[in-house]
Amino acid sequence: MEAARAGGHLVLTGGGTPRRAYELAAELEPDWSKAEVWWGDERCVPPDDERANFGMAKGALLDRLEQAPAAVHRIKGELDPEQAAAAYEVELRGITFDLVLNGLGPDGHTASLFPHAPTLEERERLVVPAEAKHEPFVERITLTIPALAACRQMIFLAVGTDKADAAKRAFGDPASPATPASLVRSVEGETVAVLDREAAAELT
Ligand code: 6PG
Repeated sequence: MEAARAGGHLVLTGGGTPRRAYELAAELEPDWSKAEVWWGDERCVPPDDERANFGMAKGALLDRLEQAPAAVHRIKGELDPEQAAAAYEVELRGITFDLVLNGLGPDGHTASLFPHAPTLEERERLVVPAEAKHEPFVERITLTIPALAACRQMIFLAVGTDKADAAKRAFGDPASPATPASLVRSVEGETVAVLDREAAAELT
C-alpha cells in the first residue's frame, strides 16, 4: 500500500496467499496512479482463466481501485510461451523494480522457479518459459533470478503449516537450488520475509 502510494514499478505474485493482501491494499490505498504493475510469473492460460495470476490480481486489486495504475504490464499467458517471454523481456529490460512480491511454495519454489530446474541457471535472459512442477500443472512463464533480484525491496509472503519446512530452508538454511526461494534476493536493497506463526514455526 505504501509502495503503491509512493509509486514506481511493483511486481505482483500469484498463488492464493496474496489475495487478501491485494484486497486490503486496494481498500487502504485506492489511488495507484503513480504505480506501474508487473508480474513475477504467469500460467499459460488466457487472462480471464481462473488459474491466471493476472485474473486473480485483477479481481482482488485492480478492479477495486479508484485510480488505476499508470501501466499494467501483464505477461501474455495466452501466447506461445517463448513469444510471451520474449515480449515481456523487451518490456521490462532496463527497469529496476521498486518492490517485488514473492510467494513461497511448499517445495521451496518462488515465482515459477522450481527446485533444480534449468531456469535457476539462467543469467542472461530475464523472462523464460518454465515447466510446471506444482499445481495447476500448466506451462508457466517466469522472471529469472537476475530479473527478480533487480529490485530495491523484496517481500516474501507465506502463511500456514505447509510452508514451515520451505520457510526454514529458504530463510534459515544456506542457499541451495533445492530451494529456489533461497536464491532470490534483492541486490539493491533489503529482502523481507513476512510469515505467520505457522509458517515461521521451524525458524529459530
Ligand atoms: C504461481 C506463483 C507461485 C506462488 C506459490 C505460492 O504462479 O503459482 O506465483 O510462486 O506464489 O506457489 O502459492 P500459494 O500462495 O497459493 O501457496
